[in-house]
Amino acid sequence: MGGLSTPLCELLGIRHAILLAGMAGGPNTPELVAAVSRAGGLGVLGVSGTTADATADATRRAVALAGGAPVGVNVQLAPTTPATATRERMLEILAPFRAELGLPADPPPPPAPDPPLALLEAALEAGARVVTTWHDPAPSLAAARAAGAPLLAMTTSVPGALAAHRAGADAIIAQGAESGGHRSRFGPGAETQSETGTMALVPQVRDALGGTVPVIASGGIADGRGIAAALLVGAQGVSLGTLFLAATESGVTDAYRAALRTTSPERTVVTDAVTGRPARWIRNRLVDALVEADAGTLGWGAQAALLADMRRAAAQQGRTDLMTMLAGQAAAIGAEPLPAEDIVHDLVAGTDAALAAVR
Ligand SMILES: Cc1cc2nc3c(=O)[nH]c(=O)nc-3n(C[C@H](O)[C@H](O)[C@H](O)COP(=O)(O)O)c2cc1C
Repeated sequence: MGGLSTPLCELLGIRHAILLAGMAGGPNTPELVAAVSRAGGLGVLGVSGTTADATADATRRAVALAGGAPVGVNVQLAPTTPATATRERMLEILAPFRAELGLPADPPPPPAPDPPLALLEAALEAGARVVTTWHDPAPSLAAARAAGAPLLAMTTSVPGALAAHRAGADAIIAQGAESGGHRSRFGPGAETQSETGTMALVPQVRDALGGTVPVIASGGIADGRGIAAALLVGAQGVSLGTLFLAATESGVTDAYRAALRTTSPERTVVTDAVTGRPARWIRNRLVDALVEADAGTLGWGAQAALLADMRRAAAQQGRTDLMTMLAGQAAAIGAEPLPAEDIVHDLVAGTDAALAAVR
């Protein structure tokens, strides 16, 4: 039994306590999700921003490819936020970049996604067996319980962890400041929370919960050394996002992969200027321009919709200076394009080696 065989494995029905973090918007293809699950971890499909039909199709495909291993689903549950900038002002900031990409000055609105709970229900009906959440998990509890699926709630703070526990979460994902992606900030004082690193957050969340539910570490972990450290400070498992972006099965473009390899921690920034909620992005011309403009946003939901066609066009044209790329501070660690099953096996072996070195 290796170090990654923890009680969390029993709760989730997996062999190694490694989760592929739910990543919506393309990276987590059914192939990537299934490969992580086949390797003994938990592949989690990120379904936000899509439709119930597309979610059901992707889940069915992941479940079929996983060969009997469990597959999870991740939903983003944050409510929309009000605009703090006008559409005219935003279009003015974006105008030169839109012109460079050959896009019209004022984009038509993209099709509206289905509500998160409709996506969750579609995924559970299609065979997802574990639920992970971004933001206050309370609205998802009924669907998870009805499906008999454990609910894993991600939070950036001790008050958030206690709130998620009270709401019925079966495990807490402690998301440290190093993380790529959006901050799962909620609970008392959420708006003024400072950023806490994974190594400081995990033991404090564990102590606050008194061992009642498992804690999973997320953020800045990209090899066996990081996993061993997380286990030693009290985590029963880990949830990795950025590392799996490099996997051959991930849905990101080659340009995004190349950007990950050369990104240093200083080249990432946490800002709400891109989507209206704080997230860690790779800095480039577009992200820097939005940060520097300090103009507010159209709010969570509408801001991302405004940028949707730019996001697509920049990705198609390989324009890393204008793509919006989420990534954590450990992006450059292990950013080699390997099959996900090899990545999981390397992580398991690396964790055991790192644990052996300190014992
Ligand atoms: C590209 C990308 C997309 C993400 N999308 C989501 C998402 O849809 N839902 C979610 O709960 N977390 C999302 N996250 C955050 C992850 O759940 C996780 O906390 C983070 O990736 C961990 O840090 P790491 O990237 O350093 O491994 C995303 C992260 C990245 C890098």
